[in-house]
Amino acid sequence: MRFTRTLRALNSVSISKMIDFYSQFSPSSLSIKQFIDFGLSACERKSFLFLRKELPVRLANIMKEIHLLPERLLNTPSVSLLNNWYAQSFAEILAFEKADANDTETLVKFCQTLVRIRNRHADVVQTMAHGVLELKEVCEIDCQSESSIQYFLDRFYMSRISIRMLINQHTLLFGSEVQGDSQTRHIGCIDPQCDIISVVKDAYENARFLCDQYYLRSPELVIKEVNSLQPNVPIKIVYVPSHLYHMLFELFKNSLRAVVEYHENVSDLPDINVFVVCGKEDVCIKISDRGGGIQRSLSDHLFNYMFSTAPKPTVSDVHTVPLAGYGYGLPIARLYARYFHGDIMLLSCDGLGTDAIIYLKALSDEASELLPIFNKTSTRYYRTIIPTGDWSGARAYPSKSNGTSHT
Ligand SMILES: Nc1ncnc2c1ncn2[C@@H]1O[C@H](COP(=O)(O)OP(=O)(O)OP(=O)(O)O)[C@@H](O)[C@H]1O
Ligand SMILES: [Mg+2]
Repeated sequence: MRFTRTLRALNSVSISKMIDFYSQFSPSSLSIKQFIDFGLSACERKSFLFLRKELPVRLANIMKEIHLLPERLLNTPSVSLLNNWYAQSFAEILAFEKADANDTETLVKFCQTLVRIRNRHADVVQTMAHGVLELKEVCEIDCQSESSIQYFLDRFYMSRISIRMLINQHTLLFGSEVQGDSQTRHIGCIDPQCDIISVVKDAYENARFLCDQYYLRSPELVIKEVNSLQPNVPIKIVYVPSHLYHMLFELFKNSLRAVVEYHENVSDLPDINVFVVCGKEDVCIKISDRGGGIQRSLSDHLFNYMFSTAPKPTVSDVHTVPLAGYGYGLPIARLYARYFHGDIMLLSCDGLGTDAIIYLKALSDEASELLPIFNKTSTRYYRTIIPTGDWSGARAYPSKSNGTSHT
């Protein structure tokens, strides 16, 4: 009851003042090693003290950016709904600002609040995507707005990945979510011995299932492993298996679709080749397909949200997982890779096939979170007019950097 009262009081005092206050702080980026060390010490009180400040900081930083979106997008029903979710969750965490960290009841309530917030935000990606569609349906989006939206979506979804990571770590370590036998070595959602090959096989099998359902056939998978540091020893890294699975699943769906469609009238499908390589600094997973490749003129758009060459999934597809069509696969997969300072790149030969490479940091202390910070630089992105090209024959509107440190 105490919490509900604090929440009501907070609402009336002014959430927006608190958002201003917390957005002055930059998020504290953690490395996978720090997540692990923190998880091993497993001190719920320490985690609570960290999160009750860090979560409002991360939420406030991204909420400030939501308000810089083009007015018409901000006013769509979907984005208004999203805004309310964020304000509600922000307020719920602030209710613990002065709570007694030594009180067991506080810690239990905090955990329950985190679970509630995670559930509330389960559909954020679809809701935001829906908001952009709502806008596109009613008006033409100019280049300036399009560029701001792409820039925003990268930062918004990255922020969401990071907030979910913090919440999952806390609830898995201290909540009632019991981890199964196969996950006993896991520390929260991190596997200290993440077996890359087994995640590759798992993602391929599930993507293949969709491909078989849709096209009634699918290419085979051939895996080669090169451990340059310890030859013949399986490559294992400290990583979040669900993130790696997500990236691989998206890349496999793309490759499978490309291979089957490109060889429509051919009886034998060429294999998909995967190389898993461990070097001193990076672990690379290269997926090579013979799916006919991608024209170079399209390569600038591959990581744009909503860029897709597949037919739009129909309403009847809502309850099934389509193989392609939303144009969210690549950009979101790349965010997962970049979140811990990895990356995803695509290299294509038009008329032959595509190599998609996932880069991961081999060392857990170098794999630190890449987080959006709200400041003058980010604000400028939403305001500046895109310069006209200064090369003859070049595209009139050179695309702006998407705001992560890799571009
Ligand atoms: N391996 C590939 N070979 C050929 N084209 C590819 C490949 N990977 C991606 N593409 C092209 O890039 C586009 C964007 O891919 P992306 O995964 O982002 O969206 P999608 O597959 O169309 O839809 P979804 O959001 O369901 O994944 C695809 O529609 C396709 O045209
Ligand atoms: Mg895809």
